[in-house]
Formats: sequence, structure tokens, C-alpha cells
Amino acid sequence: MPVVDRVPCPGSGASAFHLRSGELWCEDLPIRELAARFGTPLYVYSAAVLDERVQRVRAAFGPEAQICYAVKANSNLSLLQRMHGLGIGFDLVSGGELGRVQAAGLPTANCVFAGVGKESWEIEAAVQAGILFFNVESPHELPLLAAAGQRAGQRVPVALRLNPDVDAGTHAYISTAKKDNKFGVALERAGEVVAAIVANPWLRLCGYHVHLGSQLRRVEPYVQALARVGAFVDGARERSEGVTHYDLGGGFGIAYGDGEPLDVHAVAAALLPMLRARGWRPVVEPGRYLVGDAGALITAVLGEKNQGATDFVLVDAAMNDLMRPALYQAEHPIVPVVSGSGPSHVVDVVGPVCETGDFLGKRRELPHCERGDLLAVLGAGAYGASMASNYNSRRRPAEVLVEGKTARLVRRRETLAQLLSNEMDLHEA
Ligand SMILES: Cc1ncc(COP(=O)(O)O)c(C=O)c1O
Repeated sequence: MPVVDRVPCPGSGASAFHLRSGELWCEDLPIRELAARFGTPLYVYSAAVLDERVQRVRAAFGPEAQICYAVKANSNLSLLQRMHGLGIGFDLVSGGELGRVQAAGLPTANCVFAGVGKESWEIEAAVQAGILFFNVESPHELPLLAAAGQRAGQRVPVALRLNPDVDAGTHAYISTAKKDNKFGVALERAGEVVAAIVANPWLRLCGYHVHLGSQLRRVEPYVQALARVGAFVDGARERSEGVTHYDLGGGFGIAYGDGEPLDVHAVAAALLPMLRARGWRPVVEPGRYLVGDAGALITAVLGEKNQGATDFVLVDAAMNDLMRPALYQAEHPIVPVVSGSGPSHVVDVVGPVCETGDFLGKRRELPHCERGDLLAVLGAGAYGASMASNYNSRRRPAEVLVEGKTARLVRRRETLAQLLSNEMDLHEA
């Protein structure tokens, strides 16, 4: 049947989530059918958006760039496999994430491994696996890395994560390169750390790393950071010898409704000439930019309630399923899956968890809802499922990957048995 009325869905950052006859679709499937088939709460991802975003980053930064998807944004094994199929590597921050890449059957050669406090077993596992380089930001890691290298009989490639004291203009909880943040090594102290790397026969300085924070919308912080790193490197010869890579981190912002996404082409256009002049290959670590707009959280209405001056819509998804609103006051567009024609009112969309901070959206204009009506929380592909928890002993949601007319269950809804499986019966322990 020809598609007569495919129109953009207000608030969606990707055309894969669009309206047909007033109903929300993901690619060529109605969300209503997915909810009926897989239940709610349900994360729905669009494969087309993942593909398109990777192409966009590649087109901006060119073939010389190594794209490393930040696994923390969404670590679902099937999504990792899809990302690998698109020719990109991974940015890891734990031995668990390394284990996920391996469990997905994927190579680790194009992985970078960051983290302010890596444990010995994590370092050992990554050296054994073979990765592109470690992003080191705490000097106490150097002897651990060197010992792991010696045991493996190989020099360990190290990029030093610098803290350039740049204000990324983002939420305080996701700003990482100000001088009082725990991340990176301050430029004033970095000379000593470079000297220690260079002096160690089991370490090889191969680059510098900077990650400014998340959800950046402006080009300037990236330029400012590289300029400061450049000035640091020019301070002594040993700081540039053997350096092949500049890892500019992730943090590429998306729209979340009516905001402006980061212009990745503008970032690349500003940085690439500076990097080429030094012979440094760019590494980029986008997470949110690749998966954020690719996902929506679908939730069913449990009822409406009025309290004081506030109207509430109670839904079956909660802060344990999508933590960002509670954690960062993040605003996700929320739309009805099937648009009605009735009058709308201003509501707080809240979940069943016993916390006042349990909300998915505040002061939203939505039509009156009946129990069972569906809402979609858009832009939920990043830091949604990967941050989900079992708080209030709730089972984490199912996840579905849509490709055209096909929907694949890529994570089953948790069962009560799984929820309890690691716990002991006091009387049997
Ligand atoms: C080192 C590092 N790289 C990349 C990312 C990905 O950030 P984003 O999802 O905003 O692109 C993060 C996020 O915290 C990070 O800590």
C-alpha cells in the first residue's frame, strides 16, 4: 500500500520516527504493533538512524579518522554488532564493556580504553585482548600498565588524557574538562607524566586524549582544547615524539526537541587542518550522537491523577528505565503514539517509582489519556537502557531493533527469577 501521509513527528531528531495517519511509526512498523507484540515499557531502536549517524560522522571526519563508538551510551550486544558492521571501533570504560565487545564476537584492535580508575584485571584483560591504545588519566596506572606489558612481552600504547580546563557549556554533571573535574591530567602536571611514560621501556606514548563532556552544541570548546594541547606539546620535544593520534573524545550534542544539535562537519572542518599540520590522526568517540535519536522509550498510561495544581499522567515506565530526567533534569520530547483529537492539557508524566524525582517529563502539553494509551519518549537511545536499574525491584525493559519492516528483539524483558538470581536465602546460605 502506498504511504500517503508520512509526516515528521514533532520533537523527533530522526525521520525514522515519523507519523502516518496520526500514528507514530519506526521505519516501516507502527509503534502500536511493537508495543502489543513486545509489551511495555519497551525501547525501540531504528537501525537506519544508527547507519545514517555513523555515515554522517565518517563524512565529516574523513577516512583517516578512527570512529570509536562510546559503548556506555548503549551497550546492547546487537547494537555493538551493528556498529562493527558499519566499520567502527569502540570506546571502552570498563572491563565489563571490553567483555561485551568480546561476547559480541567482535575484534578489539580498534578499541580505546579510558577511565579514571582502571582496576588491574581490567588493564590485564585489555592488554591480553590487544587494543588500539589506553587513555590514561591517572598517573598511578602507569606501573600497572607497564607490568601488564612486561608480562605480555609488548610495549603498551598509551594516549595521555589531558584536562585542558575548557568550559564545554553543558550540564555540570556531564562536564569533564574543567580544572576541578576528576578527569584527565592538568596541563601543568602533564609534563611529568609524559616524562614517566617516555622513560618506561614497556610504555609507548602514541597520542593525547581530551573528552570535554557530553551534549556539547558548540565547536569552540573543541578548538580551544586542541589549541591548548598543541601549546603543551610544543613545550618539549619528548611530548611529540612518536605521537600519531589525537582523540578528541565524544560529546557531540543532539537536539532533544527544539535544541540545536552539534554541527559535526563544523567541528571536523575546524580541527582537521590543525591535526594534519601535526600529522596526527583523529579519533572520535561519539556515543549519544550515534544512538540517542535512534531510540524511543514506549510506555503505557496507567491512569491520570490531579494533585493540587498539577495534573499527572501515570505511566508504566519510570526513572529506573530512563534515569536522565531525574539525574540531569534532561528534557526528552514526549508524544502520544496515536494522536487523538481531544483537547490537550499540561501534565507531569511520572512513573510508579516511590520517588518525587521519578518523572519522565514535566509541564508537558498532552491530550487526555485513557489507561492503556501509549506515549513515546523520544531521543532515548543513549543513556537510557544502559543506565536502567532494578530500583523498586522493577524488571528492566525489553529492547527491539527495527530495520525496515523487521523488528528483532535484542534484549528480553528481565524476569523476576533473573532479578533474584544472585541473592541468597538466609536460611540456606
Ligand atoms: C571518555 C568518553 N568518551 C566518550 C563519551 C561519550 O560521550 P557522548 O555520548 O556524549 O558522545 C564519554 C561519555 O561520558 C566519555 O566519558
